[in-house]
Parts: sequence; structure tokens; C-alpha cells
Amino acid sequence: MSDRPALSFAKDVRPLFTDLDVAHMKPAGIDLSDRASVEAHADAIYHTVTAGTMPPAGTGERWTEAMCALFKQWQTEGYAP
Ligand code: HEM
Repeated sequence: MSDRPALSFAKDVRPLFTDLDVAHMKPAGIDLSDRASVEAHADAIYHTVTAGTMPPAGTGERWTEAMCALFKQWQTEGYAP
């Protein structure tokens, strides 16, 4: 048992995405502001941010290892809201 509360989408994961990220990915069919949509595409999202292909160069900062690890932990913990 841990005293540390599980990561949540609203508090921990949603802030990883900028408004630009959200706006640009909606036409591509992924709503980065929506927990269920992020869960549905989580493996692909994790792949792009760790590979550095998303966000595309020039449209946002490459995610740090800490950001990627946080996202992965949220996945492992079961995609809490
Ligand atoms: C399943 C994962 C993803 C796929 C398949 C995907 C695919 C795409 C595609 C096809 C485009 C339009 C073409 C392009 O500009 O390259 C795009 C644009 C973009 N994506 Fe993603 N994306 C994914 C995840 C993400 C994530 C996680 C972020 C942010 C952390 C992100 C941020 C952006 C941004 C900012 C643009 C706009 C680029 C521009 O206007 O030049 N995407 N994405």
C-alpha cells in the first residue's frame, strides 16, 4: 500500500498537452483533452512522444523523460480520471 494517490488524467496527464496539441490532433481523430480518447490511443501516443515525432518539431517542446514516465505510469495504473 502506498500513501501516494494514483495519477489522474485531470490533474497529471491533461496538463502534458498544450492547447495547440489538442486543437491540432482533433482533426486527426484524437481528442487529447478527453480521457477516454487518450486511453484508446495511449500506446500510440506514448510511442510518438517517446520517439519525439509528436509534437512535431517547431510546434512544441519535445517531451522530457519525466513527462513520458508520468504518462506510462498513468497507463500502468489503469487510466484513472
Ligand atoms: C496516436 C498518436 C498520434 C498520431 C498518429 C498523430 C498524428 C498526427 C498527424 C497525422 C498530424 C498532421 C500532420 C503533421 O503535422 O505531422 C499531427 C499533427 C500534430 N500533432 Fe499529432 N499525432 C499523435 C499524437 C500527438 C501527441 C501526443 C501530440 C502532443 C503531445 C501531438 C501534437 C501534434 C501537433 C502540435 C500537430 C500539429 C503540427 C503542425 O501543425 O505542424 N500529436 N499529428
